[in-house]
Amino acid sequence: MIKVTSEVQTITQMTRDLPSPLALVPTMGALHEGHLALIRRARQLVGPDGTVAISIFVNPIQFDRASDLTNYPRPLKSDLALCERAGVDLAFTPQKDFFYHSDHSVIVTESLLSKGLCGSIRPGHFDGVLTVVIKLFNLLQPTLAIFGEKDFQQINLIRRMVRDLNIPVEIVGHPTIREPDGLALSSRNIRLTQEHREDAPRIQRSLSAASDLAVTGEQDPAAYLRSAKKHLLANAPDGFSIEYLELIDAESMQAVSLLTKPALLATACYYGGIRLIDHVVIQDH
Ligand code: PAF
Repeated sequence: MIKVTSEVQTITQMTRDLPSPLALVPTMGALHEGHLALIRRARQLVGPDGTVAISIFVNPIQFDRASDLTNYPRPLKSDLALCERAGVDLAFTPQKDFFYHSDHSVIVTESLLSKGLCGSIRPGHFDGVLTVVIKLFNLLQPTLAIFGEKDFQQINLIRRMVRDLNIPVEIVGHPTIREPDGLALSSRNIRLTQEHREDAPRIQRSLSAASDLAVTGEQDPAAYLRSAKKHLLANAPDGFSIEYLELIDAESMQAVSLLTKPALLATACYYGGIRLIDHVVIQDH
C-alpha cells in the first residue's frame, strides 16, 4: 500500500500513474466495519486490477465546535493497518498545513439542500464538507467515490455539487451498516458510555416504529413526528436529548405538508456530548 502524507503537490501525478479505474473512499479515520464495507465495495467496482484509494483526514473546516474537533478520534496507525489488510492500494493522509494554505479563502457553498437538518444546526459544516471533497477529487481524480448513505444529506449535497459543477466523478452510495442491535455504525459510537451505548439503538427503533405508520396509509407528517418523538423520549436515560427530528422530501430535502413521495424521517440526538444521526426512508403510503 502506498502511503502519502504531506506531498499534496505530487499526489495528482502519482494517482495518474496508478491503474484505473480509481475508486476513492473519503474518510475522517477511526475506521470501523462501515468503512471496511465501503472499501470492499470499492474493490468490487474497480476489480482486482483497478485502484482503491482511501483518504483519512479530520477536516477542521467542517467542525462547528472546537471541542468536537479536538475530541475526534485519530487512531491513524491502526487505521493504516486496517487499510493494508483490507487491500487498499493508496492511503492519502494529508496534514492540515499542507492541505489548506494558511490564507485559504475559497470554499464551496450549497444554498438549498444544505439548509435543513444538520445544515440548519451546524453553520458552515457542509461548506467544509463540500470544500474538502472537491479538493480530494481534484487531487486524486477518482473515477468514482463511495460514501455511506447514513449521512444522507451529505451524499445528496455531494451529488448536487458534482452535477452543478460538472465534476467528472461517479458518486456511489452505500447502505448504512448497523450493529446487530440496530445502532448505525459511527466513529463516535466508541465515545458513548456503556449506559448510553446500550440505549442508543432506541434511535433506530423509534424511527422505524414511526415509519410503520406508512402501512396504515398515514400521510400527515405530524403523525410520524409525534410517534418518533414519543419513542425517542420514552424512558430515555439522563443525558439524552433530541437536536432535531424532521420529515422532509427525500429528493428536494424540503419540508412536506403531505406525504405523497418518498420521504426522509431524520434525527440527530445527543448522548451527553456525543451526537448521533440516523434516518429512515418512508416509501409506502
Ligand atoms: O463523512 C465523512 O467522513 C466526512 O464528512 C468526509 C466526507 C470524509 C469529508 O470530510
